[in-house]
Amino acid sequence: MTEARFITLEGIEGAGKTTVADRLTQALRARGLTVHATREPGGTKVAEGIRSLVLNRGEEHISATAETLLMFGARQIHIDNLIRPSLTRGEWVLCDRFTDATHAYQGGGRGVDRSLIERLANAVHGDLQPDVTLLLDVPVRVGLERMQARRGAVDRFEIESSQFFERVRNRYLELAQAQPQRFRVIDASVRLDEVCSAAIAAVEEALQLPPGRA
Ligand SMILES: Nc1ncnc2c1ncn2[C@@H]1O[C@H](COP(=O)(O)OP(=O)(O)OP(=O)(O)O)[C@@H](O)[C@H]1O
Ligand SMILES: [Mg+2]
Repeated sequence: MTEARFITLEGIEGAGKTTVADRLTQALRARGLTVHATREPGGTKVAEGIRSLVLNRGEEHISATAETLLMFGARQIHIDNLIRPSLTRGEWVLCDRFTDATHAYQGGGRGVDRSLIERLANAVHGDLQPDVTLLLDVPVRVGLERMQARRGAVDRFEIESSQFFERVRNRYLELAQAQPQRFRVIDASVRLDEVCSAAIAAVEEALQLPPGRA
């Protein structure tokens, strides 16, 4: 029996995280593994409630610090109720965004102090880090074009400028460069099939899984 693993997927809007998460989940399940596919912010009923508070644009001002605290509040609830119990049972968890997203969006994008984010991450999950993080990297223009093609209504992040997303992307790349053991950077600008194959191969390599059945 393979030990439980915690995998996260990161990248800007339109990078393909949700699509790749689905394919990767199928590939892991085909190996007989129990896999929980989940997302942040959200993943549990209460944390999904916080997600809609944060993402739905309303009249009320939400500062970057408040946004950061809400993200970590939702994260703590998600970890306590879903992520940690699943891993304890020996089940795998595949999460669409995690703390790296807070560094990238609230830190890189909105300028929240890096040390505040680090202290909150340490308080919320100092003893729990992803085993591997796939960064789906795509030029901002490509990501935004895919996002626009996909949907009509825009959320609190999707209204941001391309300069905002450049800062987010750059912070993601800095994080990946600083922690090469954990991160695998995938070129997500190529065809979706190629991105999915590269993502699956990267997880197999990083976690030293035997090559999957075709
Ligand atoms: N490599 C690709 N080539 C072409 N289209 C793609 C590729 N990857 C994703 N797409 C398309 O782009 C859109 C966005 O993909 P997806 O929803 O997976 O991105 P995401 O990273 O989850 O975005 P968000 O952060 O907004 O949730 C979808 O319509 C998807 O089919
Ligand atoms: Mg998505």
